[in-house]
Amino acid sequence: MASYPTPHIDAAPGDFAKTVLMPGDPLRAKFIAETYLTDAKLVNNVRGIHGYTGMYKDTRVSVMASGMGMPSIGIYSWELYNIFGVENIMRIGSAGSLSEKVRVRDLVFGMAASTNSNYASQFGLPGTLAPTADYDMLKTAVAQAKAIGARYHVGNILSSDTFYDDDPAANSKWQKMGVLCIEMEAAALYMNAARAGKRALALLTISDHLVTGEATTAAERQTSFTQMMEVALETARALGHI
Ligand code: HPA
Repeated sequence: MASYPTPHIDAAPGDFAKTVLMPGDPLRAKFIAETYLTDAKLVNNVRGIHGYTGMYKDTRVSVMASGMGMPSIGIYSWELYNIFGVENIMRIGSAGSLSEKVRVRDLVFGMAASTNSNYASQFGLPGTLAPTADYDMLKTAVAQAKAIGARYHVGNILSSDTFYDDDPAANSKWQKMGVLCIEMEAAALYMNAARAGKRALALLTISDHLVTGEATTAAERQTSFTQMMEVALETARALGHI
């Protein structure tokens, strides 16, 4: 069993709150801590992966970047769950839409995360695992989205190992199966949560549309980002009592 500090997180278990919000981008983690948390303290900065813990209203919350892709979120979430005592990780990120119903700026909750990655092979399962979100987190977060009147969808998402995929037909195959959007981290997060007996949820905003080609302006991205943050922070607050 590994102990702390780890090669990737130079902190002690008490430095993190029960719930950690994980954007991909370290500068976004810094922005969230500075904008939404009070008394935020930098608890990790190995490789520039900013991790902060502070207060959101009455609840202690941490925010730390995951980096891009499943190997990266795999490392950070494994260490947070298994070494640092974290219970809940909520990925907050962007995704490309695969569905006509899912428009740019909409929120998407990843009820399940399909994947083209081989991440599950480490578990030696005699079949195919369905990586899923934690139901309590999902239910709590959806209630928050409803409360603020956000446009949202709940369903299957794709966690892809490739942003630039060589197969031009790949997207339409996932789309045929009702997959709502593509991102690059949730499946590994859900598998690590399952293996550790902990909770995870991916909450995404649609930044671009892979079917219609529609994209968002910086100002529009800011509005949906604000909604996503409100949902994420209020969910952390509600989970503080679970
Ligand atoms: N693919 C993968 N991840 C993404 C995308 C995409 O098209 N858009 C935003 N994150």
